[in-house]
Amino acid sequence: MKDIVYFDAAASFLKPESVITTEVDFLKNRYANAGRGVCARAGAVDEMVAAVRRRVADFINADSRQIVFTANATDGLNRIVNIIARRFDIAGFSVAVSDLDHHSARLPWAEMLDMGKIRKIEKCELDENFNIKIDSVPKSDVLVITAMSNVLGVSQDVAAICRAARKKNPNVITVVDATQYIVHHKIDVKKWDCDFLVASGHKIGADTGVGILYIRDADKYMPDKLGGGMVLRIDGDMAIWNNSPDRFEAGTLPLTQICGLSVAIDELESHRPDLKLIKYMYDELKKNPRIKILSSRDAALMTFVVDNMHPLDVGAMLGANNICVRVGNMCASWVHRVLGIDGSIRVSVGPWNTRQDADKFLSVMNKIVK
Ligand code: ALA
Repeated sequence: MKDIVYFDAAASFLKPESVITTEVDFLKNRYANAGRGVCARAGAVDEMVAAVRRRVADFINADSRQIVFTANATDGLNRIVNIIARRFDIAGFSVAVSDLDHHSARLPWAEMLDMGKIRKIEKCELDENFNIKIDSVPKSDVLVITAMSNVLGVSQDVAAICRAARKKNPNVITVVDATQYIVHHKIDVKKWDCDFLVASGHKIGADTGVGILYIRDADKYMPDKLGGGMVLRIDGDMAIWNNSPDRFEAGTLPLTQICGLSVAIDELESHRPDLKLIKYMYDELKKNPRIKILSSRDAALMTFVVDNMHPLDVGAMLGANNICVRVGNMCASWVHRVLGIDGSIRVSVGPWNTRQDADKFLSVMNKIVK
Protein backbone atom coordinates (compact mmCIF):
# COMPACT_ATOMS: atom_id res chain seq x y z
CA MET A 1 0.00 0.00 0.00
CA LYS A 2 3.03 2.28 -0.14
CA ASP A 3 2.31 5.40 -2.19
CA ILE A 4 -1.43 4.74 -2.07
CA VAL A 5 -3.55 7.37 -0.40
CA TYR A 6 -6.52 5.48 1.01
CA PHE A 7 -9.31 7.99 1.57
CA ASP A 8 -12.11 5.46 1.65
CA ALA A 9 -12.39 4.55 5.31
CA ALA A 10 -16.16 5.02 5.23
CA ALA A 11 -16.47 2.24 2.64
CA SER A 12 -14.15 -0.07 4.55
CA PHE A 13 -11.45 0.56 7.13
CA LEU A 14 -7.88 -0.60 6.65
CA LYS A 15 -6.94 -3.27 9.17
CA PRO A 16 -4.57 -2.48 12.04
CA GLU A 17 -1.56 -4.81 12.23
CA SER A 18 -2.78 -6.06 15.64
CA VAL A 19 -6.07 -7.26 14.09
CA ILE A 20 -4.18 -9.15 11.40
CA THR A 21 -1.72 -10.81 13.79
CA THR A 22 -4.52 -11.75 16.20
CA GLU A 23 -6.48 -13.41 13.41
CA VAL A 24 -3.42 -15.21 12.01
CA ASP A 25 -2.54 -16.48 15.48
CA PHE A 26 -6.11 -17.67 16.01
CA LEU A 27 -6.16 -19.49 12.66
CA LYS A 28 -2.73 -21.04 13.14
CA ASN A 29 -2.70 -21.89 16.81
CA ARG A 30 -6.07 -21.63 18.49
CA TYR A 31 -8.76 -22.46 15.95
CA ALA A 32 -11.73 -24.68 16.92
CA ASN A 33 -15.49 -24.32 16.66
CA ALA A 34 -17.42 -22.51 19.38
CA GLY A 35 -20.38 -23.79 21.38
CA ARG A 36 -19.91 -27.37 20.23
CA GLY A 37 -16.75 -28.82 21.75
CA VAL A 38 -15.82 -30.24 25.14
CA CYS A 39 -12.04 -30.12 24.82
CA ALA A 40 -9.98 -27.30 26.36
CA ARG A 41 -9.20 -25.82 22.95
CA ALA A 42 -12.92 -25.49 22.10
CA GLY A 43 -13.58 -24.12 25.58
CA ALA A 44 -10.98 -21.43 24.98
CA VAL A 45 -12.79 -20.42 21.77
CA ASP A 46 -16.09 -20.24 23.70
CA GLU A 47 -14.37 -17.98 26.21
CA MET A 48 -12.91 -15.86 23.38
CA VAL A 49 -16.37 -15.33 21.84
CA ALA A 50 -17.84 -14.45 25.25
CA ALA A 51 -14.99 -11.99 25.93
CA VAL A 52 -15.42 -10.26 22.56
CA ARG A 53 -19.15 -10.04 23.18
CA ARG A 54 -18.47 -8.37 26.53
CA ARG A 55 -16.07 -5.95 24.81
CA VAL A 56 -18.70 -5.03 22.21
CA ALA A 57 -21.35 -4.64 24.92
CA ASP A 58 -19.05 -2.38 26.89
CA PHE A 59 -18.28 -0.38 23.72
CA ILE A 60 -21.93 0.66 23.35
CA ASN A 61 -22.97 0.39 27.02
CA ALA A 62 -25.16 -2.68 26.53
CA ASP A 63 -25.38 -6.04 28.24
CA SER A 64 -23.64 -9.05 26.62
CA ARG A 65 -26.95 -10.86 26.20
CA GLN A 66 -28.16 -8.01 23.99
CA ILE A 67 -25.29 -8.39 21.51
CA VAL A 68 -25.76 -10.67 18.50
CA PHE A 69 -23.00 -11.28 15.95
CA THR A 70 -24.19 -10.85 12.38
CA ALA A 71 -22.39 -10.72 9.02
CA ASN A 72 -22.47 -6.91 8.76
CA ALA A 73 -24.85 -3.97 9.16
CA THR A 74 -26.82 -4.91 6.03
CA ASP A 75 -27.40 -8.38 7.44
CA GLY A 76 -28.47 -6.86 10.76
CA LEU A 77 -30.90 -4.41 9.15
CA ASN A 78 -32.50 -7.14 7.05
CA ARG A 79 -32.75 -9.47 10.02
CA ILE A 80 -34.38 -6.83 12.20
CA VAL A 81 -37.34 -6.69 9.78
CA ASN A 82 -37.83 -10.45 10.09
CA ILE A 83 -37.29 -10.43 13.85
CA ILE A 84 -39.96 -7.74 14.28
CA ALA A 85 -42.31 -9.53 11.84
CA ARG A 86 -42.06 -12.76 13.85
CA ARG A 87 -43.11 -11.08 17.06
CA PHE A 88 -45.81 -8.67 15.88
CA ASP A 89 -48.65 -8.70 13.42
CA ILE A 90 -47.13 -6.01 11.23
CA ALA A 91 -50.00 -5.77 8.71
CA GLY A 92 -51.09 -2.41 10.14
CA PHE A 93 -47.57 -1.12 10.72
CA SER A 94 -46.41 2.28 9.61
CA VAL A 95 -42.63 2.59 9.30
CA ALA A 96 -40.83 5.95 9.39
CA VAL A 97 -37.59 6.30 7.45
CA SER A 98 -35.58 9.25 6.17
CA ASP A 99 -33.86 10.28 2.96
CA LEU A 100 -30.51 9.85 4.72
CA ASP A 101 -30.92 6.10 4.92
CA HIS A 102 -28.60 3.65 3.28
CA HIS A 103 -30.38 1.24 0.91
CA SER A 104 -30.02 -1.55 3.47
CA ALA A 105 -31.92 0.40 6.13
CA ARG A 106 -34.90 1.26 3.96
CA LEU A 107 -35.22 -1.28 1.14
CA PRO A 108 -36.18 -4.24 3.39
CA TRP A 109 -39.14 -2.18 4.64
CA ALA A 110 -39.94 -0.92 1.13
CA GLU A 111 -40.16 -4.51 0.00
CA MET A 112 -42.51 -5.34 2.87
CA LEU A 113 -44.73 -2.50 1.70
CA ASP A 114 -44.52 -3.69 -1.89
CA MET A 115 -45.62 -7.18 -0.81
CA GLY A 116 -48.54 -5.68 1.14
CA LYS A 117 -47.09 -6.83 4.46
CA ILE A 118 -47.03 -3.41 6.13
CA ARG A 119 -49.49 -0.51 5.80
CA LYS A 120 -47.26 2.43 4.92
CA ILE A 121 -43.86 4.07 4.89
CA GLU A 122 -43.55 7.66 6.00
CA LYS A 123 -40.60 9.98 5.88
CA CYS A 124 -39.01 12.02 8.63
CA GLU A 125 -38.56 15.59 7.42
CA LEU A 126 -35.04 17.00 7.19
CA ASP A 127 -34.02 20.58 7.88
CA GLU A 128 -31.65 22.58 5.68
CA ASN A 129 -28.65 21.02 7.48
CA PHE A 130 -29.94 17.49 6.92
CA ASN A 131 -30.93 17.01 10.54
CA ILE A 132 -34.12 15.08 11.16
CA LYS A 133 -36.71 17.61 12.35
CA ILE A 134 -37.41 16.44 15.86
CA ASP A 135 -40.76 18.23 16.15
CA SER A 136 -42.17 16.57 13.08
CA VAL A 137 -41.02 12.97 13.62
CA PRO A 138 -44.06 11.02 12.36
CA LYS A 139 -46.15 8.78 14.58
CA SER A 140 -45.10 5.28 13.55
CA ASP A 141 -44.77 1.68 14.71
CA VAL A 142 -41.14 1.44 13.60
CA LEU A 143 -38.69 4.31 13.22
CA VAL A 144 -35.43 3.84 11.30
CA ILE A 145 -32.69 6.37 12.17
CA THR A 146 -29.42 6.76 10.32
CA ALA A 147 -27.23 8.07 13.12
CA MET A 148 -24.68 9.45 10.64
CA SER A 149 -25.21 9.76 6.90
CA ASN A 150 -22.58 7.92 4.84
CA VAL A 151 -22.90 10.65 2.20
CA LEU A 152 -22.94 13.84 4.25
CA GLY A 153 -21.38 12.76 7.55
CA VAL A 154 -24.16 14.51 9.51
CA SER A 155 -24.78 13.13 13.01
CA GLN A 156 -28.32 12.98 14.30
CA ASP A 157 -29.52 13.58 17.85
CA VAL A 158 -30.66 9.98 18.20
CA ALA A 159 -31.80 10.30 21.83
CA ALA A 160 -34.03 13.28 21.04
CA ILE A 161 -35.47 11.59 17.93
CA CYS A 162 -36.27 8.41 19.88
CA ARG A 163 -37.89 10.50 22.64
CA ALA A 164 -39.99 12.42 20.13
CA ALA A 165 -41.12 9.20 18.45
CA ARG A 166 -42.06 7.66 21.79
CA LYS A 167 -44.15 10.68 22.73
CA LYS A 168 -46.25 10.01 19.65
CA ASN A 169 -46.36 6.23 20.13
CA PRO A 170 -45.02 4.76 23.40
CA ASN A 171 -44.70 1.37 21.66
CA VAL A 172 -42.66 2.56 18.68
CA ILE A 173 -39.73 0.26 17.83
CA THR A 174 -36.61 2.33 17.13
CA VAL A 175 -33.91 0.97 14.82
CA VAL A 176 -30.58 2.79 14.63
CA ASP A 177 -28.09 2.34 11.81
CA ALA A 178 -24.89 3.33 13.60
CA THR A 179 -22.50 2.09 10.89
CA GLN A 180 -20.80 5.43 10.26
CA TYR A 181 -21.52 7.08 13.62
CA ILE A 182 -19.71 4.39 15.62
CA VAL A 183 -16.44 5.19 13.83
CA HIS A 184 -16.31 8.71 15.25
CA HIS A 185 -18.33 8.76 18.46
CA LYS A 186 -18.86 6.83 21.65
CA ILE A 187 -22.30 5.22 21.66
CA ASP A 188 -24.47 4.71 24.70
CA VAL A 189 -27.56 2.68 23.79
CA LYS A 190 -29.06 3.36 27.22
CA LYS A 191 -28.90 7.11 26.65
CA TRP A 192 -30.26 6.71 23.13
CA ASP A 193 -32.99 4.44 24.51
CA CYS A 194 -33.28 2.61 21.18
CA ASP A 195 -34.61 -0.90 20.58
CA PHE A 196 -32.23 -2.09 17.87
CA LEU A 197 -28.84 -0.93 16.62
CA VAL A 198 -26.52 -2.23 13.93
CA ALA A 199 -22.90 -1.66 12.89
CA SER A 200 -20.36 -3.36 10.64
CA GLY A 201 -17.04 -4.73 11.88
CA HIS A 202 -15.19 -3.98 8.65
CA LYS A 203 -15.89 -0.25 8.95
CA ILE A 204 -14.14 -0.06 12.32
CA GLY A 205 -11.00 -1.99 11.45
CA ALA A 206 -12.23 -5.54 11.99
CA ASP A 207 -12.45 -8.08 9.19
CA THR A 208 -15.31 -8.41 6.74
CA GLY A 209 -17.99 -10.92 7.73
CA VAL A 210 -18.75 -9.77 11.26
CA GLY A 211 -21.32 -7.23 12.35
CA ILE A 212 -22.96 -6.09 15.56
CA LEU A 213 -26.68 -6.26 16.27
CA TYR A 214 -27.97 -4.85 19.56
CA ILE A 215 -31.47 -5.92 20.63
CA ARG A 216 -32.73 -4.28 23.80
CA ASP A 217 -35.41 -6.84 24.76
CA ALA A 218 -33.71 -9.71 23.01
CA ASP A 219 -35.46 -12.58 24.82
CA LYS A 220 -38.88 -11.19 23.89
CA TYR A 221 -38.18 -11.78 20.20
CA MET A 222 -38.29 -15.09 18.36
CA PRO A 223 -35.26 -16.27 16.41
CA ASP A 224 -35.27 -15.44 12.69
CA LYS A 225 -32.87 -18.22 11.71
CA LEU A 226 -33.18 -21.79 12.88
CA GLY A 227 -30.45 -24.38 13.16
CA GLY A 228 -27.60 -25.55 15.33
CA GLY A 229 -26.58 -23.84 18.52
CA MET A 230 -29.82 -21.97 19.19
CA VAL A 231 -32.02 -24.82 20.44
CA LEU A 232 -32.27 -25.56 24.17
CA ARG A 233 -34.43 -28.68 23.78
CA ILE A 234 -36.46 -30.42 21.09
CA ASP A 235 -40.01 -31.37 22.14
CA GLY A 236 -41.39 -33.67 19.44
CA ASP A 237 -41.10 -31.57 16.27
CA MET A 238 -40.98 -28.35 18.22
CA ALA A 239 -38.07 -26.66 19.91
CA ILE A 240 -37.49 -24.55 22.97
CA TRP A 241 -35.07 -21.81 22.05
CA ASN A 242 -31.98 -20.83 23.95
CA ASN A 243 -31.96 -17.38 25.45
CA SER A 244 -30.29 -14.49 23.64
CA PRO A 245 -27.75 -14.19 22.16
CA ASP A 246 -27.63 -17.92 21.28
CA ARG A 247 -31.19 -17.92 19.92
CA PHE A 248 -30.12 -15.47 17.20
CA GLU A 249 -26.88 -17.22 16.28
CA ALA A 250 -27.80 -20.38 14.39
CA GLY A 251 -24.83 -22.08 12.72
CA THR A 252 -21.13 -21.56 13.17
CA LEU A 253 -20.12 -17.98 13.85
CA PRO A 254 -17.40 -16.08 11.92
CA LEU A 255 -14.94 -16.94 14.68
CA THR A 256 -11.77 -15.52 13.16
CA GLN A 257 -13.46 -12.21 12.46
CA ILE A 258 -14.98 -12.12 15.97
CA CYS A 259 -11.51 -12.73 17.39
CA GLY A 260 -10.21 -9.65 15.56
CA LEU A 261 -13.21 -7.48 16.44
CA SER A 262 -12.26 -6.68 20.03
CA VAL A 263 -8.72 -5.79 18.93
CA ALA A 264 -10.18 -3.48 16.29
CA ILE A 265 -12.36 -1.79 18.93
CA ASP A 266 -9.33 -1.29 21.21
CA GLU A 267 -7.44 0.27 18.30
CA LEU A 268 -10.35 2.50 17.29
CA GLU A 269 -10.86 3.77 20.83
CA SER A 270 -7.23 4.78 21.04
CA HIS A 271 -6.89 6.11 17.45
CA ARG A 272 -10.04 7.69 16.05
CA PRO A 273 -9.72 9.23 12.55
CA ASP A 274 -8.35 12.78 12.66
CA LEU A 275 -11.14 14.99 11.34
CA LYS A 276 -8.83 18.02 11.23
CA LEU A 277 -7.71 16.58 7.90
CA ILE A 278 -11.27 16.87 6.58
CA LYS A 279 -11.44 20.52 7.66
CA TYR A 280 -8.09 21.22 6.02
CA MET A 281 -9.12 19.65 2.70
CA TYR A 282 -12.51 21.35 2.90
CA ASP A 283 -10.90 24.78 3.29
CA GLU A 284 -8.53 24.16 0.40
CA LEU A 285 -11.03 22.58 -1.98
CA LYS A 286 -13.51 25.37 -1.29
CA LYS A 287 -11.14 27.80 -3.03
CA ASN A 288 -11.81 26.12 -6.38
CA PRO A 289 -14.99 27.63 -7.91
CA ARG A 290 -15.66 24.50 -9.98
CA ILE A 291 -15.96 22.34 -6.89
CA LYS A 292 -19.18 22.23 -4.91
CA ILE A 293 -18.78 20.69 -1.48
CA LEU A 294 -22.01 19.08 -0.29
CA SER A 295 -20.99 18.20 3.26
CA SER A 296 -20.39 20.73 6.02
CA ARG A 297 -16.92 21.73 7.25
CA ASP A 298 -17.42 19.92 10.55
CA ALA A 299 -18.76 16.71 8.99
CA ALA A 300 -16.96 13.40 9.51
CA LEU A 301 -16.23 13.16 5.80
CA MET A 302 -16.18 15.38 2.72
CA THR A 303 -18.45 14.88 -0.26
CA PHE A 304 -18.39 17.03 -3.37
CA VAL A 305 -19.18 17.32 -7.06
CA VAL A 306 -17.23 19.04 -9.82
CA ASP A 307 -18.84 21.33 -12.33
CA ASN A 308 -19.05 19.64 -15.74
CA MET A 309 -17.29 16.46 -14.63
CA HIS A 310 -18.92 13.12 -13.88
CA PRO A 311 -18.09 11.82 -10.38
CA LEU A 312 -16.89 8.54 -11.89
CA ASP A 313 -14.39 10.41 -14.04
CA VAL A 314 -13.08 12.34 -11.06
CA GLY A 315 -12.79 9.09 -9.07
CA ALA A 316 -11.00 7.35 -11.95
CA MET A 317 -8.51 10.20 -12.33
CA LEU A 318 -7.82 10.24 -8.60
CA GLY A 319 -7.47 6.46 -8.77
CA ALA A 320 -4.98 6.73 -11.61
CA ASN A 321 -2.93 8.87 -9.23
CA ASN A 322 -3.12 6.23 -6.48
CA ILE A 323 -5.76 8.08 -4.49
CA CYS A 324 -8.70 5.92 -3.43
CA VAL A 325 -12.02 7.69 -2.88
CA ARG A 326 -15.65 6.60 -3.16
CA VAL A 327 -17.82 7.77 -6.05
CA GLY A 328 -21.40 7.16 -7.14
CA ASN A 329 -24.60 7.04 -5.14
CA MET A 330 -22.88 5.25 -2.23
CA CYS A 331 -25.91 3.00 -1.74
CA ALA A 332 -27.78 6.09 -0.56
CA SER A 333 -29.81 7.16 -3.60
CA TRP A 334 -32.47 9.12 -1.72
CA VAL A 335 -30.16 11.77 -0.29
CA HIS A 336 -28.63 12.23 -3.73
CA ARG A 337 -32.12 12.78 -5.13
CA VAL A 338 -32.74 15.44 -2.48
CA LEU A 339 -29.48 17.07 -3.58
CA GLY A 340 -30.66 16.87 -7.20
CA ILE A 341 -27.76 14.68 -8.38
CA ASP A 342 -27.13 11.03 -9.21
CA GLY A 343 -23.82 10.67 -7.46
CA SER A 344 -20.91 12.41 -5.79
CA ILE A 345 -17.29 11.97 -4.74
CA ARG A 346 -16.49 11.19 -1.11
CA VAL A 347 -13.27 11.53 0.85
CA SER A 348 -13.20 9.76 4.20
CA VAL A 349 -10.25 9.41 6.52
CA GLY A 350 -8.90 6.74 8.84
CA PRO A 351 -6.27 6.90 11.58
CA TRP A 352 -3.57 6.03 9.00
CA ASN A 353 -4.10 9.21 6.96
CA THR A 354 -1.65 12.10 7.21
CA ARG A 355 -1.31 15.71 6.18
CA GLN A 356 0.90 14.47 3.30
CA ASP A 357 -2.02 12.37 2.06
CA ALA A 358 -4.24 15.45 2.13
CA ASP A 359 -1.63 17.50 0.26
CA LYS A 360 -1.23 14.83 -2.39
CA PHE A 361 -5.00 14.70 -2.88
CA LEU A 362 -5.21 18.50 -3.11
CA SER A 363 -2.38 18.70 -5.58
CA VAL A 364 -3.98 16.05 -7.85
CA MET A 365 -7.37 17.77 -7.54
CA ASN A 366 -5.77 21.04 -8.61
CA LYS A 367 -4.44 19.34 -11.73
CA ILE A 368 -7.72 17.58 -12.54
CA VAL A 369 -10.00 20.55 -11.88
CA LYS A 370 -8.40 23.65 -13.33
N1 ALA B 1 -22.22 1.97 1.77
C1 ALA B 1 -20.84 1.94 2.03
C2 ALA B 1 -20.22 3.29 1.73
O1 ALA B 1 -20.71 4.27 2.21
C3 ALA B 1 -20.15 0.82 1.37
O2 ALA B 1 -19.25 3.35 1.03
